[in-house]
Amino acid sequence: MFNLKNKKIVIIGGSGLIGRPTIIKLLNEGAKVINVDLKDFIKKKKNYKFHKLNCTLVDFYERFSKIILDRFNPEVVINCSYPKTKDWEKNDFKNFAKTSFSRNTEYHFNSYFLFSKKIADHMKKKKIRGSIILLSSIYGFLGQNQFLYKGTSKKENLTYSIIKGSLINFVRQMCAYYAQYNIKINSISPGGIEDRSMSKMFKKKYSEICPSKRLGKPEEIASVILFLSSNTSSYINGSNIVVDGGFSII
Ligand SMILES: NC(=O)c1ccc[n+]([C@@H]2O[C@H](COP(=O)([O-])OP(=O)(O)OC[C@H]3O[C@@H](n4cnc5c(N)ncnc54)[C@H](O)[C@@H]3O)[C@@H](O)[C@H]2O)c1
Repeated sequence: MFNLKNKKIVIIGGSGLIGRPTIIKLLNEGAKVINVDLKDFIKKKKNYKFHKLNCTLVDFYERFSKIILDRFNPEVVINCSYPKTKDWEKNDFKNFAKTSFSRNTEYHFNSYFLFSKKIADHMKKKKIRGSIILLSSIYGFLGQNQFLYKGTSKKENLTYSIIKGSLINFVRQMCAYYAQYNIKINSISPGGIEDRSMSKMFKKKYSEICPSKRLGKPEEIASVILFLSSNTSSYINGSNIVVDGGFSII
């Protein structure tokens, strides 16, 4: 459908909830995929390679450049990693600590940002018509609805909204410069995606207020990642594509 046959694609954080169906769909479309993550999730598959790299370590950029960019010259890079500290859950209004905020911003925003610039510079140098896709969130442009958390173990996360909001505007800034070199850079903002760790209460409340009356499925985000990976989306650049069943329109 998207003509991704032999397209060289790198996905960072590909072993997670959204990454896994994305990789399966990309491979089914004939793409060549490298997954960069802390752990793998497929044993062996044609056109698939795994590289264990930690995107929060100082030597990550150098290693990523040498092992992935220089050898593979990817046409598409997807970042759906979710690096965070052990005290990540404490980034709510009550427990907020500047040290955790700084560390998490460095791990998550800085890695997405520095990394995207490095990739775009490589694509520019090699004259690759590339596509860079970053996972943001509806909480990059919406405040978190407190009603959803009452009576559940979930809490708002202040740092998350700052990181994801910054990413959306960073994408615009990147596009303003790199589009002239035939490089696309876009973000995707999913709404809540169903996963096993969510309580029944949270799912019920979320579904009640979402116009589509349900949470999203990881495959529904993967389809949009495939669209942005392909030439079908050739004139979409600097955009933030919202995939939330209408959650953000009311
Ligand atoms: N799941 C949702 O409801 C949802 C909603 C909106 C936005 N998002 C965004 O989508 C992206 C993916 O979310 P997800 O739910 O698939 O997350 P996830 O936690 O299931 O997967 C993230 C992946 O990143 C990898 N990772 C974590 N730290 C890493 C590191 N230091 N180096 C390399 N890899 C590392 C993990 O091993 C994991 O495979 C995230 O940016 C998230 O903020 C998710």
